[in-house]
Amino acid sequence: MCGIVAYVGGRTAYPILIKGLQRLEYRGYDSAGIALLNGETHVYKCKGKVKDLEMLSKDQDISGTIGMGHTRWATHGEPNDVNAHPHQSMNGKFFVVHNGIIENYSHLRKELKSRGYQFKSETDTEVLANLIENIYLEQKVTAELAVRLALTRVVGAYGLVITCEDEPGQLIAARKGSPLVVGVGDNEYFLASDATPIVEYTDQVIYLNDEEVAVIRQDSLELKNLGNDSKTPDIKKISLSIDHIDKGDYEHFMLKEIHEQPVTIQDTFRGRISMDESKIFLGGILDVMPQLIKARRIIIVACGTSWHAGLVGEYLFEQYARIPVEVEYASEFRYRDPILEKDDLVIAISQSGETADTLAAIRKVRETDATILGICNVAGSSISRETDAGVYTHAGIEIGVASTKAFTSQITVLTMMALLLGSKRQALSASEYKHLIKELIQVPKKIEEILKEEHKIAEIAAVYKDVSNALYMGRGLLFPVALEGALKLKEISYIHAEGYPAAEMKHGPIALIDENMPVLALAANDESYEKMVSNIQEVKARKGKVIAVVTKGDKIIRKMADHIIEIPDCHEAVSPLLAVIPLQILSYHIALMRGCNVDQPRNLAKSVTVE
Ligand code: F6R
Repeated sequence: MCGIVAYVGGRTAYPILIKGLQRLEYRGYDSAGIALLNGETHVYKCKGKVKDLEMLSKDQDISGTIGMGHTRWATHGEPNDVNAHPHQSMNGKFFVVHNGIIENYSHLRKELKSRGYQFKSETDTEVLANLIENIYLEQKVTAELAVRLALTRVVGAYGLVITCEDEPGQLIAARKGSPLVVGVGDNEYFLASDATPIVEYTDQVIYLNDEEVAVIRQDSLELKNLGNDSKTPDIKKISLSIDHIDKGDYEHFMLKEIHEQPVTIQDTFRGRISMDESKIFLGGILDVMPQLIKARRIIIVACGTSWHAGLVGEYLFEQYARIPVEVEYASEFRYRDPILEKDDLVIAISQSGETADTLAAIRKVRETDATILGICNVAGSSISRETDAGVYTHAGIEIGVASTKAFTSQITVLTMMALLLGSKRQALSASEYKHLIKELIQVPKKIEEILKEEHKIAEIAAVYKDVSNALYMGRGLLFPVALEGALKLKEISYIHAEGYPAAEMKHGPIALIDENMPVLALAANDESYEKMVSNIQEVKARKGKVIAVVTKGDKIIRKMADHIIEIPDCHEAVSPLLAVIPLQILSYHIALMRGCNVDQPRNLAKSVTVE
């Protein structure tokens, strides 16, 4: 949530900040703003997107080689010009951009009010700006010390960049709970919420750790903790390239990311399967293999789409590795008093690696003796650093707010883990293991076949684009895919959609079925096929419209359904990877036809770093 970018160096800051904010817009797009320093500080900010900010700053003074920018996902205070960042302290000394939530802000606000401070906005960030200024003026300390002292009083999460008018040429950055990356250039530094605004200038980065403060000037960087102990910056080389963050010939990032899946799934298993396709290697979990093999139980924690991937994992681990699995919403798990033993294994799944609830769930596990693994897409993210071990999904940066390729890469990792454990625990024979690996390897080619049928799926989208509701149903491994299909539709097209296990329909949701209700039925060629046929008949008997995802060559459902989408024949174990593709495409085209902003749906943000 919220994107931050900042620059100090020899170049003009404005274009770097604007381009950076455009790249970070997926993190929030309620308002945008910049502060440029060139002797005095010029702030331009407004409700809306970065393009609105560009309009606003046109013909204004945009000079200056130091500055900071922000794109907002509103938490405290509605999205409007006043609540947009940067925020200035009352006496004009400090400018602040902030990602996160100051939980004790109302207490601090009251305290500052009693000292004569007045507030223009409803934000927690303005409270922080004034708190820093109050300490700076009253205690007559440096800006950096004022920031550190203020942060010791703050409860909550922050990624921050701060400037002080009295100390020009300097950016102060701090992090707790919300990510912040420093790009190290040649006599210049960049700061951003993730590496995307930085990659075209440098591949050298420092990921700030919690409660670290960086004081940055054109020619120096000083890193310390809140207690003033110096820290040695750990400079890492990143492999993200500019092509990864470009839409290329696609109209939207979501469409590009849907089409990337044959490659991204291959990237997920590349180098992790032996040449003779008989074994899986997952280097990231090698050290914890003994705990994995003798795990009594696996608990998967995640949110949203990643939680759906976790549900697929549950089926896979239980079926192929014979380990009992529970899948938990991280947001619920973190507030329970879970019973975790030494031989429990917790797997946290997160595309961004920054989701606040998932991170909190991990911290809860760390208080116990259980082992905690991460399945993350973003290298160097908080979750990847706070887990005992893990596997990266290698799907490449995902910019569309609706997750697509990250989901299939998460399932690919879970499939590999389940098969590897199945083999190690002797739940799978060598020939079954090998056969399933082969099935996985064939998935990218099969997805290519589905993608070729996009135009047919778009025709179905045209028929249903104006509906108000939709139901999705599936069984077994395709039940989580039904949930994911419904989520994709609702989040980008704003159509109310729900997913159900097909057998649950008759326990309630079937009451919703009439001639206006489309039902997406996932009926691959697996053990539950006959039962899905019955469920489809039950929908048809009540005049519902059925769009069925079936295996190529299906003859029975073809005769009952209103529309058929075929996927290539595959083993049940990999069917979620194929069945979800038409659902992603359908949601995309429906949203497009409804005129929705596919990549930046309303009220959402890509990386949910607040509770
Ligand atoms: C939906 C979507 C969200 C995320 C959820 C968790 O398309 O993207 O539901 O899956 O916010 O995010 P991560 O995986 O980054 O922890």
